Amino acid sequence: MKYVPLGNTGLKVSELCFGTMTFGGEGCDFDTAGAIYNRCRDIGINFFDCANVYVGGESERILGRLIKDERDTLVITTKLGMGAGIDATGPGYSRTHIMHHVEQSLRRLGTDHIDIYFLHRFHEQPPLDDVMRALDDLVRQGKVRYPAASNFAAWQIAKANGIAHANGWSPFRCIQPMYNLLKRQAEVELLPMSESEGVGVISYSPLAGGILSGKYGKKNLEVDGRLKESEAYRKRYANHSNFDVAKSLAKIAEQYGCHVVSLAVAWVAAHPGITAPIIGARNLDQLEPALKSLDINMTRELHEQVSALSPRPGLATDREEERA
Ligand SMILES: NC(=O)c1ccc[n+]([C@@H]2O[C@H](COP(=O)([O-])OP(=O)(O)OC[C@H]3O[C@@H](n4cnc5c(N)ncnc54)[C@H](OP(=O)(O)O)[C@@H]3O)[C@@H](O)[C@H]2O)c1
Repeated sequence: MKYVPLGNTGLKVSELCFGTMTFGGEGCDFDTAGAIYNRCRDIGINFFDCANVYVGGESERILGRLIKDERDTLVITTKLGMGAGIDATGPGYSRTHIMHHVEQSLRRLGTDHIDIYFLHRFHEQPPLDDVMRALDDLVRQGKVRYPAASNFAAWQIAKANGIAHANGWSPFRCIQPMYNLLKRQAEVELLPMSESEGVGVISYSPLAGGILSGKYGKKNLEVDGRLKESEAYRKRYANHSNFDVAKSLAKIAEQYGCHVVSLAVAWVAAHPGITAPIIGARNLDQLEPALKSLDINMTRELHEQVSALSPRPGLATDREEERA
């Protein structure tokens, strides 16, 4: 395992992050989560992503139990801002919400600090000045090491960080966008911005919620898994052209003698703006090929072959002729 700088935080994190969204959910009880966690630790992963909303707080509780004897050797994230109401999973970034949710997450994780604390999505209100000020207070209190943002547009991050810098507050030091062969919008602004500004990037859904594993075949949504369980993921990914891409990716993997899951994860990791893809699995069998992504020799030729399977997103301006 290689350890890479997380933006300009000074932290070194493993080149894969493990996402614990499955912990405590269907088919991933405490014992299975423990086996996944131990396998990640054996291979050298020191970086685990979580959120208050995952399985109603159960993922944080399980992760907290698993990390308790080695907390200081790990980089742990969690998030607030999805869900409804001011309970454990409520949305919104009022000072009241932020102070409430951080305490709940600290309690469930059984820790006195969160390394990377994400706003899970952008909310219009309250103004970013108030949000950045509240996050800075958490940093000064020692409850959070670095504020971070997930699912924000580049301008929202740039605006928030401008406000933070102007006031001497802690800026966002890490972002968490969606990024995979079927969702490439991050290539346009988020990844170049992060490279330029020294912001760490841990991207989610390298398998597009499982579709790039190829298990769904052409439109076969009856296979057990996220696409069957979640309408949101069906809306996001279940269309003809995406099934075709998954099939073509599997052919390339076969040609190179590797698992399609390994190839999909390695393709994400190969973007120079990505610090670490966040891999996800609900059992050990699913985990193994994602870990094997580390063995893939992502040559320029292979990278181009895979990239050609899906459209490269347009530029942020309309002058396509100036694309490098
Ligand atoms: N910030 C955000 O808004 C956000 C959103 C989503 C995720 N995340 C984070 O990113 C992490 C990873 O995201 P993700 O789960 O969407 O990643 P993903 O890699 O796109 O999907 C992982 C899922 O694909 C399926 N899968 C994995 N390996 C497989 C294999 N070998 N064969 C067949 N199916 C396989 C499993 O789902 P099934 O068993 O259900 O098919 C697994 O849970 C999450 O745990 C979470 O920490 C963040």
